[in-house]
Amino acid sequence: MARTPVLAFCGSLRADSVNLALLRLAERVAPDVQFVGAELIPDLPLFNPDLDLTPDGPPAAVRHFRGLARAARAVVIASPEYIHAPSGVTKNALDWLDGCGALDGKPTLLMSASPGHTGGLQGLVALFPTLQLLGAVLVDPVSVSRASSRLDAQGNVLDPSVYQRVELAMDDLREAMDFAYGHPLASKGL
Ligand SMILES: Cc1cc2nc3c(=O)[nH]c(=O)nc-3n(C[C@H](O)[C@H](O)[C@H](O)COP(=O)(O)O)c2cc1C
Repeated sequence: MARTPVLAFCGSLRADSVNLALLRLAERVAPDVQFVGAELIPDLPLFNPDLDLTPDGPPAAVRHFRGLARAARAVVIASPEYIHAPSGVTKNALDWLDGCGALDGKPTLLMSASPGHTGGLQGLVALFPTLQLLGAVLVDPVSVSRASSRLDAQGNVLDPSVYQRVELAMDDLREAMDFAYGHPLASKGL
């Protein structure tokens, strides 16, 4: 059975990113979904609407990213918090999706991990209005505090409660997809 495509990306470009580890964990706990799009994030240029107006159209990475976003049934974003805001990488990716309707009605899971005791929650909260404007339907977010003692850079879980929280969040996302598309996806082979 084909896996359900989910646009999923990390708002950190660091090789040892704990947010990337969290994203990998989310993919691991949900073998029925296929995460797509993350590899395009480093290739997205800084948002500039003029690039949509060039004779050749926007850069290939932008076109490809929008295409994957349109085809996806849901969205998962793992974003670090920098100075109490989401990373510029996360916001840049979302800016490129403005106006193309790609997230309209799509169940969306926000996650964050941070070495501090807030888990990057403020960065996630700051994304709420942006995602609501893009039409995304938010499910209960995940924030992981003191992340370095709970998750290693490979996504290995050092604290079982993190695994349970991510598993629950992916269950929520699956249920939101069933609700959004009016049927259990599995029964339609999606
Ligand atoms: C310039 C800078 C600002 C940061 N600001 C915050 C912050 O406001 N809140 C927070 O929880 N962590 C903050 N951090 C810590 C990041 O959460 C931490 O570096 C995290 O590992 C980055 O995510 P990544 O591992 O996915 O790259 C900051 C780190 C840097 C370098």
